[in-house]
Amino acid sequence: MTLAPHDVSEVVFSRAQIATRVEALVDAIAADRGGEPLVLIGILRGSFIFLADLLRGLYRHGVPAVVDFLTLESYGNGTASSGRVRLAKDFEIDVDGQDVLLVDDILDSGRTLSFAVAHLRERGAARVRTCVLLDKPARRAVPFSPDYRGFEIDDTFVVGYGLDYAGRYRELPHIARVAFPGSAP
Ligand code: IMP
Ligand code: MG
Repeated sequence: MTLAPHDVSEVVFSRAQIATRVEALVDAIAADRGGEPLVLIGILRGSFIFLADLLRGLYRHGVPAVVDFLTLESYGNGTASSGRVRLAKDFEIDVDGQDVLLVDDILDSGRTLSFAVAHLRERGAARVRTCVLLDKPARRAVPFSPDYRGFEIDDTFVVGYGLDYAGRYRELPHIARVAFPGSAP
């Protein structure tokens, strides 16, 4: 597939800024949890790096966790949501009566996390909280407030630390802005 010409040289959050912020999120999650086991469910594919760092941070706080993932799709290869969320692959663990922390890379329209929270409640989760690294409140189409949020960003498309543009750039250790030279900002 041919992608529009673009540039990812502008760093929005450095590796060090992310590490500091993730530690603070871990502190808050661990304090709210009080050493009880936690079920972490990541939304694939964007959450896998963030979730891995949260999980290892929770270990340092002595919070045991089990992990599973579900795959939700709404974006295709573009930079705008199609408006519909599809469950592409379900998680497998039993969440009945469990306290679940849903983890995603970024909260944009709010549709993905709204769908995921409803899905976990249907499966009997006793409590569902949400944790996102990034939040774009200006883009919300359905009302949604995360319980834990790393950074707020403006209406711009970003990649790195798990986030992709058409499947690329997940490996960047920082968060970068995707600029499309020649198109309107
Ligand atoms: P929502 O359903 O519109 O809130 O979209 C959330 C999903 O859209 C996230 O899980 C991401 O996969 C994707 N997404 C939204 N904004 C960005 C971005 O700036 N970069 C990469 N992926 C994004
Ligand atoms: Mg995603």
